[in-house]
Amino acid sequence: MKPTPFIVGNWKMNGTVAEARALVEALETAVAGLSGVEIAIAPPFTALASVSAMLEGSNVQLAAQNVHWATSGAFTGEIAPAMLIELGCGIAIIGHSERRQFFGETDESVNARATAAIASGLTAIVCVGETLAEREAGETLSVVERQIVRGLAGLTAENAQRLVIAYEPVWAIGTGKVATTAQAQQVHAHIRALLVTQFGADVGASVRLQYGGSVKPDNAAELLAQPDIDGALVGGASLKAADFAAIVKAAV
Ligand code: 13P
Repeated sequence: MKPTPFIVGNWKMNGTVAEARALVEALETAVAGLSGVEIAIAPPFTALASVSAMLEGSNVQLAAQNVHWATSGAFTGEIAPAMLIELGCGIAIIGHSERRQFFGETDESVNARATAAIASGLTAIVCVGETLAEREAGETLSVVERQIVRGLAGLTAENAQRLVIAYEPVWAIGTGKVATTAQAQQVHAHIRALLVTQFGADVGASVRLQYGGSVKPDNAAELLAQPDIDGALVGGASLKAADFAAIVKAAV
């Protein structure tokens, strides 16, 4: 049986607090009462406190777009796990390709962030995915395998209860070029096999695998119907309440 689908909106660096509040208000109405699906949004850090108060008692959970591995200290610009938990934020996206491409994130730093996040009680959404050059060179599965093996090094089956993997082909992010369902399912099946090897059959099967990269209302249902696609990490379409709600409904 497939795990409960998990749809997360990654707002990236978009929205003032006022804009975030307006979007949350529209979104809460649009997804009110929906069950059989887990929903979360990841606004910018600056909006977390305000949005957290709005989400109390709703079926939408709060996520952060990054988290540091240390508990405190001289790490200018970073945010510690306990700082997120204090705000009612229970989930952190880690190792997004934009962090890897533009901010020097590596498999090793992803591993440190994920390990600390999970140890602190956060759910970690660890992102992996190949670039266009890597796909064209036939390296997709080996790149993703390296990211999974190094990124999850040392995590146990118990840790994996709070682990989600997002497969986001870099060439599909923000481009309108969605992976075909066959391309996505092939990589998801490979990730699933790696998780089964590391965590055992039961836990490996229970970790949610999200697809990300130009997910829209009109392609969500087909992607989510694939055997190893258990959710979506949605960028652009999560900034429109109606589109995000339509993607959530496609998962139900
Ligand atoms: P888009 O949905 O805008 O392609 O972004 C995907 C993404 O990067 C989500 O984390």
